[in-house]
Amino acid sequence: MAVRRLSPDQPRDFAFTPENLAWAKETIAKFPPGKQASAIIPLLWRAQEQSGGWLPEPALRHVADMLGVAYIRAYEVATFYTMFQLSPVGAKAHVQVCGTTPCMLRGAEGLIDICKRRIAEHPHELSEDGNFSWEEVECLGCCANAPVVQIWKDTYEDLTPEALDKVLGAFARGAAPKPGSQVGRKTSSPEGPPTSLADPALYDGSRLGDWRARFPELQEGGSGAAPAAEKPKG
Ligand code: FES
Repeated sequence: MAVRRLSPDQPRDFAFTPENLAWAKETIAKFPPGKQASAIIPLLWRAQEQSGGWLPEPALRHVADMLGVAYIRAYEVATFYTMFQLSPVGAKAHVQVCGTTPCMLRGAEGLIDICKRRIAEHPHELSEDGNFSWEEVECLGCCANAPVVQIWKDTYEDLTPEALDKVLGAFARGAAPKPGSQVGRKTSSPEGPPTSLADPALYDGSRLGDWRARFPELQEGGSGAAPAAEKPKG
């Protein structure tokens, strides 16, 4: 993962819009007295959304001032979590490629090659048209569907270089490619149809008769009613 540094090009100042300011005040009020600093992540996130997908340095100071914490506290949070972008990102897509072991073993390097070819040679560099950027990040929490990229709030899983190329092509056209597995898996279940518990009779109730015959003592009025709970002693 690249070193996370603040962009050298920064706007002069930052202020929440009236709507976002009202939302921020409401959010801070949800925390108990003395714990307002815990609102730092939602406030930074809202500042990032307001700033076109990245967090300018004046926004860090603005949020720190609102919460009454030292500026370094906001810098620490913003530079630690890769959900926060410290320099401008592509207008259409910022691609976060997971480079942790399971994704590397399943072909993340091929995905990075696509990003270099389609977007820019280096992470955090904008494409020529300003529409795309990319970076390598640590585990995105979808290891069973490796290799994975995250674009905005969605993950694209079970990727090949060709599949990522198609996903990026869709973003370039302004389309919304379907997130999740790109090979049709349902979440992280095995590929293909189910191989066990596949008998429809298990789910339509037609097995209930068999079940009652096997356990007559459990039927209503049967001799196997649950014994009364023993009274606690003492
Ligand atoms: S290692 Fe890539 S999602 Fe966990």
